[in-house]
Amino acid sequence: MKFYIETVGCQMNVLDSELAAAELISAGWERLDSRKGADLIVFNTCSVREHAEEKIYSALGRLKTWKIEKPTGLIAVMGCMAQKDKGVVFQRAPFVDVVVGPGKISELASLVAAAAKTGTQQLAIGIDRFEHRTDPKAVKESFRLYDPIRLPQTRPRVFQAMVRIMFGCDKFCSYCVVPSVRGPEQSRSPKEILDEIRTLADQGCVEVTLLGQTVNSYRYREGDKTTRLAALLAAIDAVPGIRRVRFVSSYPTDMTDELLQAVRDLPSATPYLHVPAQHGANSVLERMRRRYTVEEYRDLVDRIYATIPGAAITSDFIVGFCGETEDEFQQTVELVRYARFKNSFIFKYSVRPGNEASRIYEDDVPETVKKRRNNELLAVQNEISAEWNRTFLGREVEILVEGPSKREARNVAQEESLYAENEQTLDATNESETPSNLLPVGDLLASAAPSGTVQLTGRTECDRIVVFNGAPELVGTFQRVRIVETAPFTLFGEL
Ligand code: SAH
Ligand code: SF4
Ligand code: F3S
Repeated sequence: MKFYIETVGCQMNVLDSELAAAELISAGWERLDSRKGADLIVFNTCSVREHAEEKIYSALGRLKTWKIEKPTGLIAVMGCMAQKDKGVVFQRAPFVDVVVGPGKISELASLVAAAAKTGTQQLAIGIDRFEHRTDPKAVKESFRLYDPIRLPQTRPRVFQAMVRIMFGCDKFCSYCVVPSVRGPEQSRSPKEILDEIRTLADQGCVEVTLLGQTVNSYRYREGDKTTRLAALLAAIDAVPGIRRVRFVSSYPTDMTDELLQAVRDLPSATPYLHVPAQHGANSVLERMRRRYTVEEYRDLVDRIYATIPGAAITSDFIVGFCGETEDEFQQTVELVRYARFKNSFIFKYSVRPGNEASRIYEDDVPETVKKRRNNELLAVQNEISAEWNRTFLGREVEILVEGPSKREARNVAQEESLYAENEQTLDATNESETPSNLLPVGDLLASAAPSGTVQLTGRTECDRIVVFNGAPELVGTFQRVRIVETAPFTLFGEL
């Protein structure tokens, strides 16, 4: 029996798909790279914006014909939309067999087996946080941590891995669906995290990305000892084989000096910090229920640049939030200019029914205005990204070689995708709305490629993408590359 997983959403979902695949493989399933020949199609879904959900429901709608042609075929919906819509998924897409929430991935294989055996729809989701406010313990237990032994074959690249260090979110920003679909904030024990990272290192992993919705809020209490992220980074630094560690996403108020110093001092900690600001006006930050002022955020930016040499800061922004005036929007533009982010992911506000913002405020910024503000902010950011990249011209950088460049990858495998674009995946977001300079210049490089080499990409420790020509065997190794040309999102180099 063969399965195919289609993933949208953030890096949490990418990791969950890896774990779900491991779960199915352990139960005897075989993984496919496309839908063709699959007996089971799994959708890992996202609810962060309406657009993301609409795409999933229309993709599910298109699977109706597949189900008619292949009556024994099974469809499973996992992830945040499964948790949010629960049984409604069966109403909107009646031919779905299994709905499983993010806290229940460990049950996926048995639910699929039960659906196949009995022909009845199977549902497993965590308790609704809002309906069960009075019983936080039950809510907590219903969202179980699930990160079992890692199978190297379920990762796209064996030398890179994501490791969850916390689960859920307790910040409750007024626009956001995540705290309700990902459950309460729970940190994993340092021992469990380190065991997992040692396993990964034994499998050949050299770079780990620590994941948490507010990863720097990490706090694990054991007796009278509390471990915070800085101490965890130090412990990971001591694991043989692990050369690079980064962590996403950080919440501005939890970025302590101790953590910044750890990033500066630990050889494996990379100077890349994703600290979403969301907005540049205090009035809007307050309506968003972010727990800082723009002055505090600017101060954080100053502290980061003063502490960590070569730091690259990235951010997320929401434009067109309820009541956003032109003046408030311009304050966001000013913040982008001030902070000089390496790049920003910019989103148009999308109402999420049931959350605080939708109850209190009106979604009153017209779509055309949202779009214009999105483009305006992106243009300012892109110019800053290009300026940063130009500072690399002529410099030598160390990169971890990740694989063939996108252009080469497209030649190698035409991925069959149910979605036009993977909206929320961090790297894809800017690309979907920005003309990429990668292809034309990349083609120049490719045409000049000496025989035996291909166009490869790698990443610097500050998370900049470098395209260069080299032998395919370099994939998975660290190399020194001199930058000979730059574009807003890409550096071009020579070994
Ligand atoms: N935990 C992360 C964010 C996860 S959601 C953090 O706090 O940094 C990823 C991004 O989606 C958010 O940073 C925000 O910019 C955006 N987002 C969340 N809810 C949204 C909504 N209702 N409309 C538009 N964008 C939203
Ligand atoms: Fe959502 Fe805010 Fe939590 Fe991030 S910190 S996941 S934006 S509620
Ligand atoms: Fe991530 Fe989307 Fe869920 S952003 S946490 S997959 S709602």
